[in-house]
Amino acid sequence: MTDPLACPDPLAERRFAYAEGLVQDHEYAAAAEVYEQALELVPDWAPGWVALGKVRERLAESEAAAAAYGQALRTDPSDRQGAGPRLARLEGQQTTALPAAYVARLFDDYAPKFEEHLIETLLYCGHELIATALDAVAPSRQFKLALDLGCGSGLAGRVLRDRVARLVGVDLSPGMIARAQETGVYDELAVADLAAFLAARPGGEADLAVAADAFCYCGDLAPVFAAAAAALAPGGLFVFTVECGSAAFALQSTMRFQHSDAHVGDAAARAGLRIAFFAGAYTRREGPAGVLGRLVALVKG
Ligand SMILES: C[S@@+](CC[C@H](N)C(=O)[O-])C[C@H]1O[C@@H](n2cnc3c(N)ncnc32)[C@H](O)[C@@H]1O
Repeated sequence: MTDPLACPDPLAERRFAYAEGLVQDHEYAAAAEVYEQALELVPDWAPGWVALGKVRERLAESEAAAAAYGQALRTDPSDRQGAGPRLARLEGQQTTALPAAYVARLFDDYAPKFEEHLIETLLYCGHELIATALDAVAPSRQFKLALDLGCGSGLAGRVLRDRVARLVGVDLSPGMIARAQETGVYDELAVADLAAFLAARPGGEADLAVAADAFCYCGDLAPVFAAAAAALAPGGLFVFTVECGSAAFALQSTMRFQHSDAHVGDAAARAGLRIAFFAGAYTRREGPAGVLGRLVALVKG
């Protein structure tokens, strides 16, 4: 199947490849020039506009970067490149959610190398942290139905399987769901937005919901927590990780959201969820340093 985001012109494709090489060599001004020449050949190719926008940002040319992201958005309104949030960040506007098409595309591309890169290079342990929280608050509890939100390739599912009778996973990325399917640990898998998925489930059906390193792709957590609370039975547990920040929720230049402790606490209280476990935790590395986050377990009262 041809990739709908592949460059449609061979000459432009060669120019883009050359420009990418210039970016690797930190020759940003030269790269921007070559990107612009290539875009004359393929003016409707959104990935090219986003590449140009990123390089303009590196050159601290905010207006030119914003114009390039605007072009990307016009040529691909579903926004598989995340031009909208990049533009909003440049303009100092708050992004409340990432485009679903962007997240799906990002993780479809990532799926073939996801586990190797995440675990061996980034020392990711979000899935193991979920087990740590369960060991702390419900060490010998067996769950009837667990929902793995943003299940990815199924790392958390493999850690949870022995504690759960029925395991259901949901993810926006078909590529990740295909990997999760291969693990054989899920009883049911769905390609969907996690909040919409939760809202469509029968109320009170689950006694466990988990989200390992998935909320960094969700902005405002209040609607997600409300939907999770509705899906949980009384006494049900909701265990997740977030990345720490000082604003309630804010999209970073990494295109991941950080959340404040206050936002997590407020969203939990409003959803009728009580904090059972709350601790600092490092989910993965970024450069030489660990990414500081929180490991949280909430209980439906
Ligand atoms: C960093 S991965 C973590 C995957 C898995 N939980 C793990 O621990 O390996 C984040 C996953 O969340 C999914 N995701 C992000 N936002 C989502 C949303 N709104 N609805 C469903 N899945 C989402 C992504 O597609 C991706 O597979």
